[in-house]
Amino acid sequence: MDERKMMIPVRKDDPFRPVYHASVPSGWGNDPNGLCFFRGAFHMFYQYNPYDTVWGPMHWGHMASTDLIHWEDLPVALFPDMPFDRGAGCFSGSALVFDGRLYVIYTGVGEDGSQQQCMACSSDGITFVKYDEPVIGSDMLPEGAPRDDFRDPKLFFRDGAFRCLVGTRIGEKGNIALYRSEDLKSFSLTGMLFPEDGCGIPMEGICECPDIHAFSGEDLLIFSPQRTYSSGDRFQNPQSTVYMSGKLDLCTGRFCASRWDEIDSGSDFYAAQAADLPDGRCVMFAWKEMWGRTMPTSARGWAGSYILPRELTVEGGRLIQSPAGEAAESFERMADFSDIPIPEGVSVSPEGVRGNVMRLRVSLAPGECSACGIRLLVSGKDHVAVYYDVRKKILFSERGSMGTLIEGNDEDTCVRRSPAGLKNGVLELDIFLDRGSMEIFINGGERTLTMNVYPRDSSSDGIEFFSVGGDASIRSLEMYLPRG
Ligand code: FRU
Repeated sequence: MDERKMMIPVRKDDPFRPVYHASVPSGWGNDPNGLCFFRGAFHMFYQYNPYDTVWGPMHWGHMASTDLIHWEDLPVALFPDMPFDRGAGCFSGSALVFDGRLYVIYTGVGEDGSQQQCMACSSDGITFVKYDEPVIGSDMLPEGAPRDDFRDPKLFFRDGAFRCLVGTRIGEKGNIALYRSEDLKSFSLTGMLFPEDGCGIPMEGICECPDIHAFSGEDLLIFSPQRTYSSGDRFQNPQSTVYMSGKLDLCTGRFCASRWDEIDSGSDFYAAQAADLPDGRCVMFAWKEMWGRTMPTSARGWAGSYILPRELTVEGGRLIQSPAGEAAESFERMADFSDIPIPEGVSVSPEGVRGNVMRLRVSLAPGECSACGIRLLVSGKDHVAVYYDVRKKILFSERGSMGTLIEGNDEDTCVRRSPAGLKNGVLELDIFLDRGSMEIFINGGERTLTMNVYPRDSSSDGIEFFSVGGDASIRSLEMYLPRG
């Protein structure tokens, strides 16, 4: 098949094409799949419809990188060309490097809608040969799991055997199944991670995209619950991605969670997946979009982008996310300031601080004010506002005044909230602005907030600090631009 024929045209002068975030070359992309390091390069596969800018027959798109930031597009890795994946296609899955080869496991969706776990193998990391039959077929479903809601296998090796998590539901309760294999050919069901009443997250549907990583004796389980019910500051999107820290029992399959939370409080974050890299780091990517939204980039021939690589650590059961070293190194510090007053009601724009592709590290001291923050991507009345409500201890991000709006079927597509405390009277924000998006690491990555923000055009680059109900100050401010 000639891939160039499948490519839909994209605009060259695209003000929404990210500069330092991964994005699909053209067509549609959702979940990152099969993240791994193989033969000297990082590989990211992704759910790909090359024919249109909406979801459609799923292929595995493929990109590779040596620094996790600059990605090279590679030929499509998996096409929906087998009897068991010729329906909706090759759904999400994972990768495992074993014996010098790259194995991928994915969900094949047949014409009858059945979802079965299938494998393919590559020795060069580019061309994949599929197995003739699914390895976990519909005949191996856990009791009560539907054959059309059984997907997103995560393959890993632990305690002398291959293990595989598969997202599903039992009745209406989201759950995850654990399988075991000695040889990557025959698998057997070990058990379910959660009891019959499900994973404990307020949701309907299945636990999509399960993933698991070990951190000195503790397990970090990641999954994406469908149709979550909003509660307080959690679950502001129709679907979410959560982590649970705890322990997976390999004999029974049961996961005993000691703590859980949403991974990101923003509007555009889903289907996270991490990779254990040879240097010992656990690095996560996620789809930097959300189901059920308009995607302003589709008019430009593409739809689908990914977060910056985030290094994960677990401290006392709590997930901490930091921009991977490669992301930090791809920026150069251009300016730094300290102790700038933000008088109540005055817009403060430090000299030379403006831009729409940059990193801003800010320590904000609210002092006696009731709220203070930053307007970014300012042009006339257009902007995105990021501000801290001191009494509520919440960081708000509001994109309702952006030049290009995103619509969706959420209660509110514009405002997102993240709980945040002050440390020694200061709130620390590490903000990555790229064309079309903003990722905020709050207080050293204790929380993150990811939001797509599309200005009217590239002239929206003003930055203003403000405070309400009293004076605030900027304790320190550093501005970085991409190198080169
Ligand atoms: C999550 C998801 C997965 C599925 C894939 C299909 O976003 O729904 O469960 O494998 O997308 O593209």
